[in-house]
Amino acid sequence: MSPIKIANTQNEVLDLIRNRWSPRSFSAKDLNTATVETILEAGSWAPSANNSQPWRFIYALRGTPGFDKLLSTLAPGNVPWAKNAAALVASIGIRELPDTQQKNHYYMHDVGMATSFMLLQALNMDVYGHVMAGFNKQHAAELLGLSANEEAVSMLALGYVDSAEKLDEPYKTRELTPRSRNPISAIATQLD
Ligand SMILES: Cc1cc2nc3c(=O)[nH]c(=O)nc-3n(C[C@H](O)[C@H](O)[C@H](O)COP(=O)(O)O)c2cc1C
Repeated sequence: MSPIKIANTQNEVLDLIRNRWSPRSFSAKDLNTATVETILEAGSWAPSANNSQPWRFIYALRGTPGFDKLLSTLAPGNVPWAKNAAALVASIGIRELPDTQQKNHYYMHDVGMATSFMLLQALNMDVYGHVMAGFNKQHAAELLGLSANEEAVSMLALGYVDSAEKLDEPYKTRELTPRSRNPISAIATQLD
């Protein structure tokens, strides 16, 4: 793991969190169905409002027509590196609460929760994930046959990491840039 990508935290944050980052250089090592489904199952154990679990995941392994389908939805800036991922996952949010036809105001939030769990489970198995909002939602909805109640929220590239040297610019520079975050003082306020 590239040491420049390890989060320089102010507090003793879990290693799994410090070591996670979003790579663009993926290796030729394949992912199998069991590994991807373990990652997705981890996502399903994320909390959600009223345990509504407003998500489902459509995935494909590299080298399959399904992978090319998901790849075809990605924005031009994501294709050059995401095409080398070992798997692509479409995270689908379900807009309405089950059986009520009422809007679930937290579906986006909860898909994000599930995605976070997936990223950490993946890293625990040496698999890295890179979330993308850069894709054509309408094209994805059509290709995947989503219902009116479903929305493609994000795409996730999964795979084993390879060297940054294999990337062209501007991706190589991004791969070699240390990660940064706003300081705790800027985001945390203790109320008296
Ligand atoms: C909702 C969401 C959408 C994102 N969309 C893209 C994207 O389309 N392309 C991309 O290269 N990275 C994308 N990212 C990755 C972020 O740029 C990355 O997480 C952020 O820069 C922090 O870097 P780190 O994950 O390595 O800590 C996205 C991340 C999230 C959570």
